[in-house]
Amino acid sequence: MPNPSPIAVIVLAAGKGTRMRSDFAKVLHRAAGRSLLGHVLHATKAAGPERTVVISGPDMQEVGTEAKRVVPEAVIAIQEKRQGTGHAVSIAKDGLEGFEGTVLVLYGDVPLIRSETIRALADAVSEESPLAVLGFRAVNPTGYGRLIQDRQGKLIAIREELDTTVDERRIDLCNSGFIAVRAKLLWELLPKIRNDNAKGEYYLTDLVGLTVAAGLKVALAECPEAEVHGVNTRAQLAQIESLLQIRYRHNAMNNGATLIDPSSVFLSADTEIGKDVTIEPHVVIGPDVVIGDNVDILAFSHIEGAKIADGVRIGPFARLRPGAEIGRNVHIGNFVEVKKAKIGEGAKANHLTYIGDASVGPRSNIGAGTITCNYDGYEKHFTEIGADVFVGSNTALVAPVKVGDAANIAAGSVITKDVPKDALAIARGQQAVKDGWARKYRELKAAKKRKDKGA
Ligand code: UD1
Ligand code: CA
Repeated sequence: MPNPSPIAVIVLAAGKGTRMRSDFAKVLHRAAGRSLLGHVLHATKAAGPERTVVISGPDMQEVGTEAKRVVPEAVIAIQEKRQGTGHAVSIAKDGLEGFEGTVLVLYGDVPLIRSETIRALADAVSEESPLAVLGFRAVNPTGYGRLIQDRQGKLIAIREELDTTVDERRIDLCNSGFIAVRAKLLWELLPKIRNDNAKGEYYLTDLVGLTVAAGLKVALAECPEAEVHGVNTRAQLAQIESLLQIRYRHNAMNNGATLIDPSSVFLSADTEIGKDVTIEPHVVIGPDVVIGDNVDILAFSHIEGAKIADGVRIGPFARLRPGAEIGRNVHIGNFVEVKKAKIGEGAKANHLTYIGDASVGPRSNIGAGTITCNYDGYEKHFTEIGADVFVGSNTALVAPVKVGDAANIAAGSVITKDVPKDALAIARGQQAVKDGWARKYRELKAAKKRKDKGA
C-alpha cells in the first residue's frame, strides 16, 4: 500500500569534509557532472516532497545556492556548531513549521541513493510504525552504526560503533543514516535525545530506542550497500564516479544506444540519449546534453551543453560547447568546434573549423579551416550565415557579419562586410603569375653554388 502521507525532506550537509582537502564544501564536489548534493536532491524528487530543508554549515553559502538551483523552493538552515545528526535535524524545525506528514532525513554526501529506495523508505512508515530506518548488509561493518534487533527480529536500537559491545560489533546489518518518520513523532522525541555517548554528540539514531520505549514499532527498509556509499575522500569520489558511469552507460544501452566500448564513454547524470545512437570509444559527454535518435558520435569527441537533433554525425575529434544546437542530419567533422551556435538541418562542417556565436542556415557547407572571428578582444559578435551558403576553405568571417542565402564565398577570404543573397564574395590578394620566374631563379641559385665551390 503506497503511503498517502505528504513528504518533507531534510538533507544533512553541514559537514566540511576535511578529508577532501578542499576549499569547497564536500557536497559540492561533482560526480558525473552533478554535485553530490544535487544527486541526493534529484533522487528525492520522485517522492514529490512538499518541502525540502538543507542543513548547511557556517561559511558554506554555495551549498545553499546549489540546493536552490536544484530545488528552488528549498529552505536552507545553518547549523552553527556540529553537535551530531540529531542536533542537525533539530535545526530544520522552523523550516518544517506546520508540516504534518512524513519527514525523510538523508545525507548530502551519499549520491548513489536511488529514488526507488527513498520511496520504499517513505512507504515503510505507517500508523503502526511511525519510524522507518534504511539498513544495509555491510561487507565490512566497521565504522557504521549497527541495527539491533530483538529475538523476533524487531528493530529495538541503533548502536554507534564506539558504543557497541563485542557481540554487537559482529552484526553486519548497518544503519545507512537515512530515516523516515512522522513529523509529530520526530518533534516529540528529538528533545529527548541526550549526548551521553562516546562522542558527546546528539545522535539521531537514538530515535529508534525512544520510539520503542514509547511502545511504537520501528520499520526496516533495506537497500544494497552500494547505494549508501558515502564520500569522504577524493579516492571515494572517484569510486562513486565509476559506479555512476556504470549505471548511466547501462541506462543508455537499455534505452537503445550502442556503446562500442562502454568503459571509455563518460556520461553525465542529466545526459539524454535517444535510440539507435552509436557512441564510439573515448567520448566525453558533459552536463546538459540532449541527443536525438539515429545519431553517430565518433571517437574522441567532447560534448557539453549541446542539443543534437536526429540523424546527426559528430566527430571523430569534434568539440561541442555550451549553446551548440545541431539540427537534423548535420555533419560535424574532425577538429570542428561549435559554441553558442545553431546549425541548420543538413548543414555540414566537416573539417578544422570554429563556429562560435553564429547561426548557419540549412544545407550550408562550411569549408575546411573556416573561422568565425567572434571576439575582438573586448566583446563577442555574431555571424549569421543563411541557407544553402557555400563557404570556401580557410575563410575568416569577421563578426559582426551576415552572409545571405545561397551566397558563395571564395576560399581564403577574409569577410568583413555583409554578403548579399546569391552573391559571390572574394576577399583575398590577387594572384600574379610570372612566366618562367621559377626556372630563372633556380638557374641563378645553381650558378652561385658553383661559383662558391670553385672559389
Ligand atoms: C552516521 C550514523 C551511523 C551510520 C552512518 C552511515 C549517527 C549518530 N550515526 O554516523 O549510525 O551508520 O552515519 O554513514 O547518526 N552531519 C551534520 N551535522 C552534524 C553531524 C553530522 O550535518 O552535526 C551530517 C554530516 O555532514 C554527514 C551526516 O550528517 O553528511 C552523517 O554524519 P557523520 O558524522 O558522517 O555520521 P557517522 O559518524 O558516519
Ligand atoms: Ca559518515
